[in-house]
Amino acid sequence: MAIFRWKKTIYKTVCLSFLLVITVTVLQRGMAPNQFMQGQQQKELPPSEPLKSEKRDNTFSISSTFWKTKKEKAPVKAPVKEESVTAKQTKSWDVTTTNCSANQNFSKVDWFKGLEPNFQQFLLYRHCRYFPMLINHPEKCSGDVYLLIVVKSIITQHDRREAIRRTWGQEKEVEGKRIRTLFLLGTASKEEERANYQKLLDYENHIYGDILQWDFLDSFFNLTLKEVHFLKWLDIYCDNVQFIFKGDDDVFVSPSNILEFLEDKKEGEDLFVGDVLYKARPIRKKENKYYIPSALYNKNIYPPYAGGGGFIMDGALAKRLHKASETLELYPIDDVFLGMCLEVLKVSPVGHEGFKTFGIVKNKNSKMNKEPCFYRSMLVVHKLLPPELLQMWDLVHSNLTCSRKLNVL
Ligand SMILES: *[C@@H]1O[C@H](CO)[C@@H](O)[C@H](O)[C@H]1NC(C)=O
Ligand SMILES: *[C@@H]1O[C@H](CO)[C@@H](O)[C@H](O)[C@H]1NC(C)=O
Ligand SMILES: *[C@@H]1O[C@H](CO)[C@@H](O)[C@H](O)[C@H]1NC(C)=O
Ligand SMILES: *[C@@H]1O[C@H](CO)[C@@H](O)[C@H](O)[C@H]1NC(C)=O
Repeated sequence: MAIFRWKKTIYKTVCLSFLLVITVTVLQRGMAPNQFMQGQQQKELPPSEPLKSEKRDNTFSISSTFWKTKKEKAPVKAPVKEESVTAKQTKSWDVTTTNCSANQNFSKVDWFKGLEPNFQQFLLYRHCRYFPMLINHPEKCSGDVYLLIVVKSIITQHDRREAIRRTWGQEKEVEGKRIRTLFLLGTASKEEERANYQKLLDYENHIYGDILQWDFLDSFFNLTLKEVHFLKWLDIYCDNVQFIFKGDDDVFVSPSNILEFLEDKKEGEDLFVGDVLYKARPIRKKENKYYIPSALYNKNIYPPYAGGGGFIMDGALAKRLHKASETLELYPIDDVFLGMCLEVLKVSPVGHEGFKTFGIVKNKNSKMNKEPCFYRSMLVVHKLLPPELLQMWDLVHSNLTCSRKLNVL
């Protein structure tokens, strides 16, 4: 009898402990302190998650309404609304593993052996087209977006992103036109930067929810990868974006001038406008940043292309550019590559005086470079670092009295 009771007590204790363990686990899951890592966990979700149809601030709300989010995800009878969007939302970033090895075909080729190491590196991995996403924001493009601002950035330049968010990258709605902003990133190019900066980036993304990150090294030659990744991303997630501004993180941009410029532009016009170079020649001087060996490109001129510092295109054209890009091999200079894609589509980029991405005036010390009246009448001007950008932004938006309006629009 005593033994029986004893057994019963043990049985009870075991049951209770088991219950306790379960409760603690559940509670812990709910309160995990690193919920801001959600951004990363999202990328691991299988395709066609209902998440894609959620509103833009879902990354914000995930930590605070953790339980709710979990429940919503449970596959209990999909609500009607969800069903109606599934057809569109089945598209998602479909690259989940990096499985790309060096192209051995070059090992026996003589001209390859004579190339500079960075070009060898480029050629060995040129066929690796797409990489997995580390941070995604499918919701950024849900609904109508009038102007999508996308900025090429690298992990260490958080101060530039911050300045842009406070100035020309502010998300807002102007007369019913929604403006959205995204930063495009790869991974840290230096090993020692990787761990710490990645955590900071995850946190930054948790706060602002405006980072797209792919799992490739952010290097100069990989900028073209960033271009094709963005175009693919846009093709998947953005069905209702009218115009796209794409540019660098060290430029001055005037969104109000851009809106004014776009006012009389219609859809389906194949708009591609910027600081366009016609008949530019590939640079053959080895010490130049843009040097290209003739083994890589043997023609004497490039197709017309817009400087990557900042240009505008319409959403429909961007989607066609994505398809065109997949017919071409990657080229190490991103803006030239886009010029090649435009050539495939037989679309000519249009030059505009309001884009000053190759410098304003030759003389670097010229007063023009600091003249707010000049900036006020431009769409894009390179090259301003964060403190200069913040200062210029304030000046341009103060009660300026300009002796004469520089009329370029
Ligand atoms: C990855 O590459 C290896 C060897 O190149 C191959 O055997 C494997 O099937 C590939 N896996 C995927 C998922 O493509
Ligand atoms: C290497 O060459 C073979 C035969 O020409 C080709 O089928 C293959 O796609 C090449 N590999 C790469 C990675 O380009
Ligand atoms: C581009 O990124 C890939 C993936 O991280 C890397 O393997 C490759 O070396 C990079 N290419 C260059 C030219 O830096
Ligand atoms: C700018 O001008 C407006 C009216 O012309 C005035 O109300 C405003 O206070 C001025 N702002 C500054 C910062 O001087």
